[in-house]
Amino acid sequence: MSIPSTLTTSFLSANNTRRRQACLVVSKFLHLSHAFYKKGQRSSSNQWLERQRRDPFVKQAGKENYRCRSAFKLLQIDDKYGILKPGQVVIDCGAAPGSWCQAAVQKVNSLNQDSSQPQGMVIGIDLQHIAPLDGAITLSGCDFTSPDTYDKVSSILQERRVDILLSDMAPSATGIKSHNHELIVGLCFSVLRFSLAVLKPGGTMLCKLWQGGSQDRLAAAMRTVFQDVRVVKPEASRDDSAEVFMMGRGFKSKKSDAGS
Ligand SMILES: C[S@@+](CC[C@H](N)C(=O)[O-])C[C@H]1O[C@@H](n2cnc3c(N)ncnc32)[C@H](O)[C@@H]1O
Repeated sequence: MSIPSTLTTSFLSANNTRRRQACLVVSKFLHLSHAFYKKGQRSSSNQWLERQRRDPFVKQAGKENYRCRSAFKLLQIDDKYGILKPGQVVIDCGAAPGSWCQAAVQKVNSLNQDSSQPQGMVIGIDLQHIAPLDGAITLSGCDFTSPDTYDKVSSILQERRVDILLSDMAPSATGIKSHNHELIVGLCFSVLRFSLAVLKPGGTMLCKLWQGGSQDRLAAAMRTVFQDVRVVKPEASRDDSAEVFMMGRGFKSKKSDAGS
């Protein structure tokens, strides 16, 4: 049986009209979502700018020529616990843009600005570019967790052992807090494993993490190789941030039982 052409045309045009309407609805929806997304982005970047403008540590970093406000987190921990001293060898993991390295260069006298004190050494490692910094050896474009990076560090150190292993490393955050926490704890464990290979007896490890369920597991693993393990939160670390630092002091010896 043949279908009358008037019927097919009206059927097709009815279908096309519905399709057109559906397309219009979808495109309107996409347009609106994009506008909301842009608005959200604008308002959160405005909030960020406003917070930066009011932050006393941002101002102080500008005045004292630190590359970012994070310098004060390390300086405040050092003021309280006296971990950095002239002559020490420091490795700074996740060093870009370089404010912890700047602080460490001054504290360990790696530029030998005070010739009455021993001269230290600072090595900064980051996935990203670290602009050259007098007094620090910088390993840009290096993944701290890669064996190649370990080889590079070993060839710089030669026979020297490390006094302080710092990590302000932060993985690219996802929208899921618990996942971010696991990622950063994974980095802390890689710092802990590294400490077994390079730290001097009595040495210190300081690593950043975002609080969460695996924090106690990290602390317990650190206790197997450090005499004193504690959580520290310097004033410059914002109250509304889940960020804390786990500090292990008094490295005991090499042990293979500190893995994750
Ligand atoms: C908060 S920033 C560090 C700021 C730095 N302490 C300062 O004061 O300038 C965190 C850094 O960790 C780095 N990072 C994250 N994962 C890393 C990895 N696996 N190896 C090396 N660097 C890493 C990031 O590239 C980022 O530059």
